[in-house]
Amino acid sequence: MARLSVNVDHVATLREARGGKLPDPVAAAILAEMAGADGITIHLRGDRRHIKDRDLYILRNVVHTHLNLEMAATPQVLEKALEVVPDMVTLVPERPGEKTTEGGLDVEANYDLISETIGELQTKEILVSLFINPDIDSVKSSAKLRSDYVELNTTAYTEAKTASKESEELERLGQMAELAEKLGLGLNAGHGLNYKNIQRLLEIEQIEEVSIGHALVARAVLVGFYGAVEEMVELVR
Ligand code: PXP
Repeated sequence: MARLSVNVDHVATLREARGGKLPDPVAAAILAEMAGADGITIHLRGDRRHIKDRDLYILRNVVHTHLNLEMAATPQVLEKALEVVPDMVTLVPERPGEKTTEGGLDVEANYDLISETIGELQTKEILVSLFINPDIDSVKSSAKLRSDYVELNTTAYTEAKTASKESEELERLGQMAELAEKLGLGLNAGHGLNYKNIQRLLEIEQIEEVSIGHALVARAVLVGFYGAVEEMVELVR
C-alpha cells in the first residue's frame, strides 16, 4: 500500500498573498497527519516565496510522521537541511521565477554537485531522493550516485491530453519503476497528481509514496468554502 505525503507549500502561498500569518502551513500539516497522511512535504525555495525557514524549523518539531524537504542542491539550503535533519531530502531542479518544478533533475549534467550533496546528506543519515524524469539514463545515473530513492516525475502522465498518451506515459512510468527496483532504488512519484489520476498510477506496485500538493489545497479551498461563508453569514446577520 502506497503512502501519501502531503505537500503544504500552497497553504504558505496563500499566507504570503497577504504577507501575514494565516493560513499557517504548520496547522495544515498537523491536520493532514490527523487525517491520516503518512508524511509532510515542503519545498524550501531559494527565494523563500512560500515556505520560510520558520516553517521548516517548526515542522521538524511537530511532524510526527515523515518530513520530506524538497530543495535545490545549493550550499545555502543544504546548510539548512544539515541543521534541521529532515527524514528525507528530495533534490529538485529550481529555476528562479518558475511557477512550479518544471522537470526532473539533469542528473548527468550536475553529477558532481549532486554526488557531493548526496554524500553530505547521507552523512547525517538523511534519506535522499532525486526527482527525475522517467527515462532510463536518469534512473541509471541515480543508482550510480547511490541515491536512496528516486521520485518519478509524473507530469507527462498527469498532463496527457488523450487516453492513449496517458496509457503510454503510464507504461513508461511502470517500466522505470521496474528498472528502479532492479537497481535497488526506493520509489516515490509525484507532480500534478489529483483525485482523477491517482488510482491508475498506483497500479504500479513499486511506488512506495506519492507526494501531492496543489490538488489537495485546491479541493480544500472549495470543500471548506461553503461552511466558511455560512459562518460569516451568521455573523453578518
Ligand atoms: N514532487 C515534486 C518534486 C514537486 O516539486 C512538487 C510540487 O512542489 C510535487 C511533487 C507536488 O506536485 P503537485 O503540487 O502538483 O501535487
